[in-house]
Formats: sequence, C-alpha cells, structure tokens
Amino acid sequence: MKKRLLIATNNRGKVKEIQALLADLDLELVTPEQIGLRLDVVEDGQTYAENARLKALAFAQASGLVALADDSGLEVDALGGRPGLHSNRFGPQPSSEASRRAFLLTQLAGLPRPWTARFRATVVIARPDGQLWLTEGICEGEIIPEERGSHGFGYDPLFLIPEMGRTMAELGLEEKNRLSHRARAVRQAIPFLFAALEM
Ligand code: IMP
Repeated sequence: MKKRLLIATNNRGKVKEIQALLADLDLELVTPEQIGLRLDVVEDGQTYAENARLKALAFAQASGLVALADDSGLEVDALGGRPGLHSNRFGPQPSSEASRRAFLLTQLAGLPRPWTARFRATVVIARPDGQLWLTEGICEGEIIPEERGSHGFGYDPLFLIPEMGRTMAELGLEEKNRLSHRARAVRQAIPFLFAALEM
C-alpha cells in the first residue's frame, strides 16, 4: 500500500503546485479537504519557518499523517521587504488576492523602478511524533505596474522574471514549477520526505 502524505494547506494554488511537484513519487497525496479535516492554524510566528512549523505540526497531529506545509511571501525591496510574512493579509481587511495586488501597486506608486523583489518559501515536513525537517527556496524577480497573465495565484500577475520577460502568471504550472521558490523548497524536501515516511 502506498504511504500517505498530507499536503497541509487550504490554499488551492499551493496544493496544485505541490501535487505536481510530488506526482512522480510513489506516494498517495491527500489534501485536508479529502480527509475531511478543517483546520485554520493561527500563523502568529515571527518567521516563515515558525509559521510553516506551526502548520505542519498542527496538521500532522490532527491527522496522524506525515504533513508537508509551506509558508511563503513576497518581499519588495522598495518597501523594506514588505509584505513579507504578511503577504496574505496585506492592505485593508478583509482582502482578496486582487485587492492585495492593487494595494501593492498603490504602495509602490511614485517610487523609482525597477521594483526588485523576491518570493520566499519555507517548507516544513512534520511527523505526528513531532520530528521536523525544513527547507527553503527563493525566486528573484521584479514587480511591474500592470497585471499580466492568468495562471498561478496571489501576486503572480505582478511578478516578472526578468530573464524570461514573463510574469509568473504567464507561466504554465510546469514552467512555474521549474523555477519558483516553492518548487525549489519542495524539491529539496523530497529526501526528507522519504526519511519522514520511512521509505
Ligand atoms: P501563507 O504562506 O499562507 O502565509 O501565504 C503566503 C501568501 O504569499 C500567499 O497568499 C500569496 O499572497 C503570497 N504568495 C506566496 N507564494 C506565492 C506564489 O507562488 N505566487 C503568488 N503569491 C504567492
């Protein structure tokens, strides 16, 4: 029987990307929704690593499964690294992905370009017994003043990869998974996944 791994996030964009990154492994990937687990973890850590750890542990302990969580964010140099840890709650609340992108552009208006930025992701794998493994990934780019593309999620339509001349939202899932922060962190985590699952 295949070993099960819980993808510990309620974010559908992240789920799609992580599922594709791990699809070739001999594992059964399950989402919280598929196992009837409804869990909203309070992300009150001071770092991506702390938040990823909080999520991975909470999901592993609630499900009894090995869990993989991602905590990620966008850091814009002209804004001193904001929104960073608060990327999911940027600007007036309640917010949507579209309102957060619009708010980002209002914050950058009038500041000199290029608006250099990076996406950062920390992945934590947790076992229900509390053992943890952590990896990180970064993707460098630039914020542009108008949205381009319809793939991906979050800030993707505003995040240009300069060497490709395309935004993250103009890349298909496979292309994004070749270079994104999350892909880098998840790929590095694969050997630890085998350790956690005792494969
Ligand atoms: P959290 O990890 O659930 O705290 O949320 C991270 C937030 O950062 C997301 O809701 C997005 O706003 C942003 N973000 C993280 N990764 C990406 C990405 O790959 N594309 C676009 N936005 C992202």
